[in-house]
Amino acid sequence: MSKGIHLILLGAPGVGKGTQSALLKDKLSAAHVSTGEILRAAVRNGTEMGLSAKTFMDKGELVPDSVILGIIKDTLSDSSFPDNWMMDGFPRNLAQAEAFNQLLSDIDQSLTVVLNIAVPFELLMERLTLRRTCRKTGQVFNLKLNPPPEDGDFDLFQRADDTEEAVNKRLSVYDEQTKPLIEYYSSKGLLANINGDQPMDDVLKEILTTIDKFQ
Ligand code: AP5
Repeated sequence: MSKGIHLILLGAPGVGKGTQSALLKDKLSAAHVSTGEILRAAVRNGTEMGLSAKTFMDKGELVPDSVILGIIKDTLSDSSFPDNWMMDGFPRNLAQAEAFNQLLSDIDQSLTVVLNIAVPFELLMERLTLRRTCRKTGQVFNLKLNPPPEDGDFDLFQRADDTEEAVNKRLSVYDEQTKPLIEYYSSKGLLANINGDQPMDDVLKEILTTIDKFQ
């Protein structure tokens, strides 16, 4: 079995998967694979995949599994892909999780731990509708909870799927399709619960301690 730290960051939209991935990336020298970011880059570049994905994303629905699994296969089969990696926003339903298991077994890799970041649902709407991203640096802020420094030179924009309507849809898609993965990975002894409702640095500390325990 190949070595390395192999993580899944699981959790509802807005729990802080992207925020924590950005912090963990350097700490662990790990690749950060965000299927949402890959899809948004494809939208920005106007590729065929991006144009078709956009219709699902803007409504808050999942992009078809075949597209997502193609992205993951391409990513993992890249010879320069590092030993340590974390999946942010993948897998998103049982079909993706099963296909991922098979894919990992084919390339002789296994998961270290699945980090289930939990935040009370009623806090997520504010986290998402007030989220802003910097076009230049990719940094993610929240106008109320994590505002950009006043002296910074940021070019902020709001994600197209952070409207109240799309957020409601994303949260219900999470409940129906992604939440069952908690039980799925728990039954495999791979799940660890992380309290995402605390300052970001404390969430990070809890994650790092948890990874140590599973290694
Ligand atoms: P994706 O990009 O994966 O979005 P998501 O899962 O909805 O998650 P978010 O990026 O919205 O939230 P996050 O948990 O990363 O939170 P963040 O750190 O930004 O997916 C988007 C779309 O792409 C999907 O709807 C779907 O259409 C498609 N897609 C992607 N993957 C797919 C797949 N596998 N299958 C099918 N379709 C797929 O934080 C949120 C806010 O909270 C920020 O403002 C941040 O500053 C703030 N914050 C973070 N941590 C804290 C804290 N500790 N305290 C206070 N504020 C905090």
